[in-house]
Amino acid sequence: MSNGAHATPIVRLAPAKLNLTLAVIGRRADGFHDLHSVFVLLALADRLSLAIAAGAGRTGQHDTLHVRGHDAGPVADNLVLRAIAAARAAVGEGPGRPATLPLAARLEKVIPVAAGLGGGSSDAAAALDGALEAWGAELDPDRRASAALAIGSDVPFFLAGSASIVEGRGERTTPLVGVQGQPGVLLVTPRVALRTPDVFAVFAATRGHGDGSIRMTSEHLAQELARGLSAADLIARAGVMASANDLLSAALLVEPGLVGVKRALARTVGRVVGLTGSGPTLWTLYPSLAEAESAAVVVRAAVEAGTVPSLGGGPPSIIATTIHTGHT
Ligand code: C5P
Repeated sequence: MSNGAHATPIVRLAPAKLNLTLAVIGRRADGFHDLHSVFVLLALADRLSLAIAAGAGRTGQHDTLHVRGHDAGPVADNLVLRAIAAARAAVGEGPGRPATLPLAARLEKVIPVAAGLGGGSSDAAAALDGALEAWGAELDPDRRASAALAIGSDVPFFLAGSASIVEGRGERTTPLVGVQGQPGVLLVTPRVALRTPDVFAVFAATRGHGDGSIRMTSEHLAQELARGLSAADLIARAGVMASANDLLSAALLVEPGLVGVKRALARTVGRVVGLTGSGPTLWTLYPSLAEAESAAVVVRAAVEAGTVPSLGGGPPSIIATTIHTGHT
């Protein structure tokens, strides 16, 4: 093994995220939208391991990826491979640079795919950071951040690795103290393909800019989380947060079936239900993991009984987890 390359695999947890608020400020010249959003990390996480490929150094060898768990689509499109390639390009080649040997990546997909939970972006941030460590390479923070943004708008947040205010298209992240304690979260992900670009396109066509009051709510919650909120204080704000997502109406227009799932879920659990990001995952907050787990049992029974509808490809994915309070 040459230079500072790691002989043992690098293992990273790649957590999911939840948008507690999501204000869309307006469309930018580059086609993306400027946001103000409070992002928190969840305990729910994919697991990525990266190792220098066996026999690395042979010509024509490529990075490889094996995925287990949720079907994440074609491996060639996976953000893990794109992130490794972006890390290699950012390190560059030449005298004095560490060799960016081909990597063998293994990904255990636990986070539902294309769900508004940021799983692909989190895998990419873990791959970018893990590849640099596997090669023993360093990148200055600006180059790491621009490599992350080139992969996707949510990747800089995951690279930062803590509850944050996310602004711009995703490039500006400000760490927050976040939530103290471990509030439980119930995630219900209907099996529908709700593509982020489609939701933003409908938002742009129908509204174009966000509701000023959602931006104010988002900024206010960010100020509170900069000082830290207890689980009880956060739950007391669930109603305000659930109505502070500018993409909600666009998501419901793209997938009208979500309206019925959201209403039925709220009736079943007797709590406020919000949408994370561009959806389709719906969230409900609880004081603890145990209470979120009990609610998951109730919702599974309601899905079986047909009182919470299943959309498209079958029953929704139902997961109980917690808001992750530490740093990744
Ligand atoms: O950056 P990412 O690939 O995650 O974005 C997916 C799509 O979501 C973009 O092509 C764009 O249509 C939309 N988007 C946006 N503004 C953002 C983030 C995403 O318009 N801030």
